[in-house]
Amino acid sequence: MSIFVKRKIRDGDRQGLQQSAEREFKRQFFGLLLVIVTWSLAMGWLLALATNAHSATPPVEIGTVDVVPAQYQLGQELYLENCSTCHIALPPAVLPTQTWKNLLQDSQHYGAQLQPLVDPPRILVWKYLSTFSRVQRDDEETPYRLSNSRYFKALHPGVKLPRPVQLGSCVSCHPSATDYNFRRLTAEWK
Ligand code: HEC
Ligand code: HEC
Repeated sequence: MSIFVKRKIRDGDRQGLQQSAEREFKRQFFGLLLVIVTWSLAMGWLLALATNAHSATPPVEIGTVDVVPAQYQLGQELYLENCSTCHIALPPAVLPTQTWKNLLQDSQHYGAQLQPLVDPPRILVWKYLSTFSRVQRDDEETPYRLSNSRYFKALHPGVKLPRPVQLGSCVSCHPSATDYNFRRLTAEWK
């Protein structure tokens, strides 16, 4: 009698255990399902956000020879502000560093009179111009015209340039030269 009761109790225990294990499994399963659903919703939302943000801002077009990092952008703006009022602004890469140095110091400017820049703009413009131009070779005279600049020639391999090349002629091949973009070319050069 007592043995029988004992076994019955054990069977009852087993059943109870099985039920609670099933419950535990269901709990974990739905818990995991919830995590997966929430995760994919969040990811979908993030992805939508990312692609939206991407399509809202078109990729920035690079118009100059080098990409200009943030710390030189103020210098570039000041350069454009001060050096593109009478003619288009030239990208620093077309002339050696020495030329830019002298141009910034000289108030006599190709027959025109310039108000030389003062600090702090002067130093910012100088940092921009000197960073994005190259040093002149020892055996070279400082060029003041693009026609005499090795670097200008080097940027135009095989291009038949007008002689002498003048500031007004850039736009004939670089349609966006007035926007400081020298990467965009007219159809015949593509
Ligand atoms: C007051 C008007 C004026 C301003 C401002 C001015 N320039 Fe000029 N720039 C001229 C004139 C005029 C010429 C000669 C154009 C010519 O002969 O074809 C010239 C020519 C040049 C040339 C020679 C280009 C070539 O190969 O013929 C360079 C380089 C130049 N300027 C750089 C600068 C820089 C750098 C600044 C800013 C510091 C500047 N300019 C601001 C009037 C100006
Ligand atoms: C006859 C057409 C022509 C004229 C005029 C011309 N360019 Fe160019 N320029 C080109 C072509 C083509 C290239 C591309 C050369 C290459 O990458 O092989 C180029 C390249 C350049 C680049 C390099 C752009 C880059 O990052 O790839 C600069 C800077 C530039 N030109 C500046 C000037 C300036 C400043 C003037 C005016 C003084 C000028 N060019 C006049 C045709 C011209």
